[in-house]
Amino acid sequence: MNYRHAFHAGNFADVLKHALLARILRRLGVKDGAFRVVDTHAGIGRYDLAGDEAGRTGEWTGGVGRIVGADLPPVLADFLAPWLEVVAELNPEGGLRHYPGSPLIAARLKRRQDTLFANELHPEDAEHLQAALAGERRCRVMSLDGWMAVRSLLPPPERRGLLIVDPPFEQAGEFERLAETMVEAHRRFATGVQMVWYPLKDAGAVRRFHAAVAASGLTRILRVEQWVRRTGTAGPLAGAGLLLVNPPWQLDEEIAAALPALTALLANGEGAGERVDWLVGEEAPED
Ligand SMILES: C[S@@+](CC[C@H](N)C(=O)[O-])C[C@H]1O[C@@H](n2cnc3c(N)ncnc32)[C@H](O)[C@@H]1O
Repeated sequence: MNYRHAFHAGNFADVLKHALLARILRRLGVKDGAFRVVDTHAGIGRYDLAGDEAGRTGEWTGGVGRIVGADLPPVLADFLAPWLEVVAELNPEGGLRHYPGSPLIAARLKRRQDTLFANELHPEDAEHLQAALAGERRCRVMSLDGWMAVRSLLPPPERRGLLIVDPPFEQAGEFERLAETMVEAHRRFATGVQMVWYPLKDAGAVRRFHAAVAASGLTRILRVEQWVRRTGTAGPLAGAGLLLVNPPWQLDEEIAAALPALTALLANGEGAGERVDWLVGEEAPED
């Protein structure tokens, strides 16, 4: 377990992932019934952008650093608003020093009746996570293998909720495990929303992952991808994607309306772009 998210916190991929997470949470909060968030690979929750790790890569300057304080087109300002509210809460003196990871965004956007289970296997990171969530109501930190956590944490008693699976992609076979986890999670909690993240690095691996998920029998899977320059070239991560199972109604249209403006803001070289489409719609594809 070498991956430390502190090097990447607030980068372009976090912006899209966290903006979508915040929108999904807001939508889950429209109905009164309590929901549960399960975050299988949670990270440390709160990142210091002036810290050593963030400073060594400077990745956040090409992500959240381009957004906070920028004059955003209205469609983008509206789309990013729930996420930006949490970023602002963490920086009460203005500016941008602290950045919220997925569990802290969930802790801040869930309501009193909702629950968060944030799981992080790395012992030191789990301690930091515990500290980041100290004082937040109905938030529980666990230190299980995230791939197994789905088995013990789903289905939630509330029967409403969101599963976030955001692995580090540092080991072989993680795309396969991700597809298997989606199927297992759906078997246990078919009506739940799922949000899974993947890098756009190895085009063949991504194609096989999509094919496996599409052939699994799962339906209502929205695919959202963004690349800030042409992918497939050497160097740092150029693009990332998310699959959303059972996304809130019309989220696809909201994303499609806002994403081009976000890509324009985050572009970092030739060939930036995005895609929003249904990997599988209401009906599973025929064999
Ligand atoms: C991409 S980071 C998570 C970032 C976080 N979801 C966010 O958006 O703020 C992946 C995390 O998974 C943790 N991790 C690695 N292997 C794990 C495993 N088998 N189970 C749970 N966590 C794991 C790493 O320590 C790292 O903190």
